[in-house]
Amino acid sequence: MKIIHKIGELKSIVKSLNKTIGLVPTMGALHLGHASLIKKSVEENDFTIVSVFVNPVQFGINEDFDKYPRTLEKDAKLCEELGADIVFAPSADEMYQDTKELTLVCPPYSAINKLCGKSRPGHFDGVATVVSKLFNISKCERAYFGQKDAQQLFIIKKMVKDLNFDVEIVPCPIVRESDGLALSSRNSYLDEKARQEGLKLSKALNYAKELWQKGIKDRQVLCDSALKIMEGLDVDYVEIVNPETFEDWVETDKNALMLVAAKIPPTNTRLIDNLEL
Ligand code: PAJ
Repeated sequence: MKIIHKIGELKSIVKSLNKTIGLVPTMGALHLGHASLIKKSVEENDFTIVSVFVNPVQFGINEDFDKYPRTLEKDAKLCEELGADIVFAPSADEMYQDTKELTLVCPPYSAINKLCGKSRPGHFDGVATVVSKLFNISKCERAYFGQKDAQQLFIIKKMVKDLNFDVEIVPCPIVRESDGLALSSRNSYLDEKARQEGLKLSKALNYAKELWQKGIKDRQVLCDSALKIMEGLDVDYVEIVNPETFEDWVETDKNALMLVAAKIPPTNTRLIDNLEL
């Protein structure tokens, strides 16, 4: 397995390949959630590229760009064990010559004016832009994204359709710890006490699902019940959407996806999670 830092080098390698390429875009600090995406790509493609890039353009000014965990050596080892062919780890300068004058890919307002997009202005422009660049550089046929970031997955699928990218987006289920906590690179910010608090996200979702299965379909009741379990957290949102459209869920919709986001005091760590009810 090769670690490549230069766009030109990766482009010339993929140009000479006559293989189906799977891409797994990540920001590194890889865990078993990422590993599940890499495994799937290795199974489904002749050649797998894992990108490891903490993308400055998707972080707000008061967010954790500087302290985001960077563990490239360990990440590369895991990628190699999983059978990936290339880790693409460019520097910020390599990816962006000029962030002030950058051409951005901007998802529609209706998709970003809610959930994570609402509290992280510019975040999804940064995500859509870097993912477009990675698609163009890697010439992948398939790209793997986790359902953990459900709004991101929705936005990327829409981008691929709207901009006619020749890339199949493969959604992958959320990988959790045995107690329910969704794996996240940001869990490394949590000590044991904060981790217990973080568990309230999945507990809230599971409780709402229990109520749903008992026949409670009132969105206010479901959201309030989840909120009650999340007491003590700095809750950003508890919402229910139609998973196909990401519009607010209405009673005539068959499927419902509950999404939650909260900061875990006193760490200021922002966690997200979701569950189909
Ligand atoms: P990152 O947070 O590193 O996540 C990379 C991919 O791993 C995403 O598709 C995410 O949904 C998936 N993932 C994370 N935790 C997961 C879990 N517990 N189970 C399953 N999949 C999980 O998302 C990003 O990076 C960036 O925004 C990126 C798309 C790379 C663009 O910079």
